[in-house]
Amino acid sequence: MSKQEHIVWHDQSVSRSEREEKQGHPGLVLWFTGLSGSGKSTLANALDRLLFEKEKRTYVLDGDNVRHGLNQDLGFTAEDRQENIRRISEVAKLFADAGTIVSTAFISPYAADREQAKQLIGEETFVEVFVQCDLDTCEERDPKGLYRKARTGEIPSFTGISAPYEEPEAPKIVVNTAEQTVEETVQTIIQELQSTYNITLN
Ligand code: ADX
Repeated sequence: MSKQEHIVWHDQSVSRSEREEKQGHPGLVLWFTGLSGSGKSTLANALDRLLFEKEKRTYVLDGDNVRHGLNQDLGFTAEDRQENIRRISEVAKLFADAGTIVSTAFISPYAADREQAKQLIGEETFVEVFVQCDLDTCEERDPKGLYRKARTGEIPSFTGISAPYEEPEAPKIVVNTAEQTVEETVQTIIQELQSTYNITLN
């Protein structure tokens, strides 16, 4: 017997398009993906600040933070990462449905998991942002000292060292934090939001 057998979908009285029309911008999911230390959270937060100052409805979902709460029962096996991304996708979808521009900052190393996120959230709403940065640079930055621990074997299955990162094949936006400043990368994203996603910044 399915656990959902006696659960009936309830239509909401305020629709997504009503919310979007009232606030003047669409709900979106900006899906940042990249190695640990590539700058996903820094970029997502810098962009969030800028959009927030321009009166947009925004939020950031960040890997390290979500893993303290909603996903505290998950580790870093391929299965746990898949479940991590599945739950985040569901949460991000709700935010987008509420008309929010939500930036998600998760390594999300598996192409199949990101594809599943796109299917769940919807192609129109899902904007994949590849935060490119070579492994050497990420390892040099090592902001949390985790690469060092991964190299000594203290942390197993560490992305880029002992676990894979599958680069996106056709991301909507690509930035490179080894070559561009935070301001430049944020501008690249803003330009794309303006030209393709109907987000006006005055
Ligand atoms: S994901 O692979 O499931 O998408 P997520 O973005 O939630 O990862 O979490 C990654 C963060 O957890 C890293 O930035 C790092 O701080 C920490 N971390 C701890 N262990 C690992 C590991 N084995 N691989 C990658 N990141 C790890």
